[in-house]
Amino acid sequence: MAILISGDKKHIRPDEVAALYVELGWGTAREYSPARMSRSLAGCDIVVGAWNDAGELVGIARGFSDFVTTTKILDMLIAPEYQRQGIGIRMMRKIESLARGTDIYFETERKNFGFAEKCGYVKRKGLMVFMKPVRHSGKVSGRKK
Ligand SMILES: CC(C)(COP(=O)(O)OP(=O)(O)OC[C@H]1O[C@@H](n2cnc3c(N)ncnc32)[C@H](O)[C@@H]1OP(=O)(O)O)[C@@H](O)C(=O)NCCC(=O)NCCS
Repeated sequence: MAILISGDKKHIRPDEVAALYVELGWGTAREYSPARMSRSLAGCDIVVGAWNDAGELVGIARGFSDFVTTTKILDMLIAPEYQRQGIGIRMMRKIESLARGTDIYFETERKNFGFAEKCGYVKRKGLMVFMKPVRHSGKVSGRKK
């Protein structure tokens, strides 16, 4: 099966992106609504998608870059039935070509360390991730129109 990889945001449908996040269990349909994903994608410097022969979105990656020194990959998700077919590494290569000349950070869980290493990433010694989560009040954050 031929998989198309593109870093062109205009090909990406927020409803398909939202569905992928929900399918992978990253949040609820409310948190990952098409409207919120549309704003999210607009705010990302790098968005890479993967599509199957039928034109369905099967992978998405988002990132921030200053395009000079540093790039941070926010996340990368491949639909379960398309994992381990070389799509993730192709998406990584696309990100690297868009962010050429910058250090690229990829934050991930232990279960994906093998993937990160296969893509040529090495553990950054002494670095830990700190975060301040959005309070879970049942409301989803967002600007009102
Ligand atoms: C992690 C993820 C993006 C990897 O994408 P993928 O398309 O399945 O990976 P690829 O098929 O391109 O794998 C590239 C190489 O890494 C290896 N690899 C992939 N996942 C691996 C894992 N979990 N452990 C060890 N090796 C792994 C593959 O075997 C392949 O090696 P090979 O070239 O020697 O065969 C994908 O599994 C995914 O979407 N997981 C769920 C969401 C997630 O956890 N995202 C990552 C954090 S944001």
